[in-house]
Amino acid sequence: MKRAIIFGATGGIGRAIAENMAENGWSLYIHYNHNQQEAGKMVQEFIEKYPDQEFFSLKLNFLAEDDVIKKIVSNLLPISAVIFTQGITNYQFLGSQELDEIEKIIQINLLAPIKITSLLESQLLKQAHGRIIFIGSVYGGQASALESVYSASKGGLSSFVQGYAREVASANLTVNVIAPGAVDTPMNAIFDAETLNEVKNEIPAGRLADPKDISFWVENLLDERSDYLTGQTIYVDGGWLV
Ligand SMILES: NC(=O)c1ccc[n+]([C@@H]2O[C@H](COP(=O)([O-])OP(=O)(O)OC[C@H]3O[C@@H](n4cnc5c(N)ncnc54)[C@H](OP(=O)(O)O)[C@@H]3O)[C@@H](O)[C@H]2O)c1
Repeated sequence: MKRAIIFGATGGIGRAIAENMAENGWSLYIHYNHNQQEAGKMVQEFIEKYPDQEFFSLKLNFLAEDDVIKKIVSNLLPISAVIFTQGITNYQFLGSQELDEIEKIIQINLLAPIKITSLLESQLLKQAHGRIIFIGSVYGGQASALESVYSASKGGLSSFVQGYAREVASANLTVNVIAPGAVDTPMNAIFDAETLNEVKNEIPAGRLADPKDISFWVENLLDERSDYLTGQTIYVDGGWLV
């Protein structure tokens, strides 16, 4: 049985990845932070649709202490793929942000994912085709004003995978970032229609990404035939920024 964990499965991109993976025969841990109801709904829906696979919901706040993270990770059944699609931003000038807000962004987007990767390493190395996929951002390659901390967290992920991929490549464990441009999800609900229209006009493809535009590339990285692609950041941005 092929089993994976999707961190942030309750988000717009996370749900698309979960639907795609479930359809492709994966058993899944559906991770959430606040949205227990959505996670439960997804698990129920998948169990009905794919009765031969296993689906579990799993709560973990990425701001939790190391001991809590360690305990949850150590109780997981063996998995061969980890997808990190949780994430937060705070659209503000740096000088207007509280220091703990800055720390939260780095903790949720970069630090906790690296720690969890470290904790999962030994079991992922045992898999024939282990996969670690981070959902980064186009801003990790070309940073944005008002999202400088978010951009730093995503750029950090891209640097991390370059180095870490080299540590584990001989075991067929690949580590990559899929870096979306603007995607039509609740994360962009902070912007009004006019602002979103302006963004759309800047994107050569003429539209925001659908979450499925992102899950498609995750699916490809999960394929056994992707063993030779590692340490990369793949920008999926409709020709927008990088
Ligand atoms: N949308 C875009 O335009 C866009 C563009 C580029 C990159 N991205 C990246 O793509 C990823 C997914 O984005 P999205 O648009 O799908 O976001 P979203 O719909 O806002 O979902 C965010 C996810 O992160 C989880 N989360 C939030 N705080 C958390 C915490 N403290 N601990 C653990 N998990 C937490 C949420 O869990 P609960 O809902 O259960 O609380 C949710 O599953 C993010 O990494 C984002 O940076 C998005």
